[in-house]
Amino acid sequence: MMDEEPENLDAADAVAMPQMEGHVVLDHVTFGYNPDKTILKDINLTAEPGQKIAFVGSTGAGKTTITNLLNRFYDIQEGSISIDGVNIQKIQGDVLRKNIAMVLQDTHLFTGSVMENIRFGRMDATDEEVIQAAKTASAHSFIMRLDQGYDTILEGDGANLSQGQRQLINIARAAISKAPILVLDEATSSVDTRTERHIEHGMDRLMKNRTTFVIAHRLSTVRNADAIMVLEQGEIIERGNHDELLALKGRYYELYTGLKELD
Ligand SMILES: Nc1ncnc2c1ncn2[C@@H]1O[C@H](COP(=O)(O)OP(=O)(O)OP(=O)(O)O)[C@@H](O)[C@H]1O
Ligand SMILES: [Mg+2]
Repeated sequence: MMDEEPENLDAADAVAMPQMEGHVVLDHVTFGYNPDKTILKDINLTAEPGQKIAFVGSTGAGKTTITNLLNRFYDIQEGSISIDGVNIQKIQGDVLRKNIAMVLQDTHLFTGSVMENIRFGRMDATDEEVIQAAKTASAHSFIMRLDQGYDTILEGDGANLSQGQRQLINIARAAISKAPILVLDEATSSVDTRTERHIEHGMDRLMKNRTTFVIAHRLSTVRNADAIMVLEQGEIIERGNHDELLALKGRYYELYTGLKELD
């Protein structure tokens, strides 16, 4: 009984963290999905509360993997990840996930009203708060144009909505959560310019005052980031803000030239 596995954390050992600030540190993080194949190599980074960290890099570079490690979908092999100075291994899973809001490309919508789908981001939210979150997300105006407004029933994973509208619902869902940390995987799919602008404004308001890790596909996102991490084969090969990285004329510069064509 004395030498129980330390990783089998029971509730009594877990650090209670009611109000996280969102100070995130990755310290010499090395990780592979299989121990014999390293995917991330010696990742070091610090995000101050409220900062926006953008990840860019080729497909397979490890961007999604980093974000998966933050909420402990997987445990790392070497190094540590801490939030507000506490190793995430010592934070209970549900507490951790309550403090990290996610906007992923393929977030699931369930059969139920728009109101219920947004409330899923924080189950005790009032109708008023749901509507406020939808406004923050720039989703309110399209919702009001739906046949039954917030009572409209979404079916088949939101099949009766456009792709852009589904994204706006996802943003509203994150906006209602009080999580100080946000993980955003920007959608690559193209939507019409007007919806695109709504999404951009929604994301901007969502990121405000939250520590944000964003897998960036939009030029505007990287331009506004406090720090951009350029990942290549699991390593951060360049880091800095947009201007600093452009001046380097390295990998970021190459990627940026590619992004610019899409903008
Ligand atoms: N669940 C998994 N099991 C094993 N290997 C995985 C798993 N998920 C990703 N990988 C591998 O890890 C590496 C990094 O993948 P990751 O998904 O982090 O890339 P990414 O930078 O997000 O790419 P993309 O821009 O295409 O989304 C890839 O070599 C990939 O094959
Ligand atoms: Mg990815």
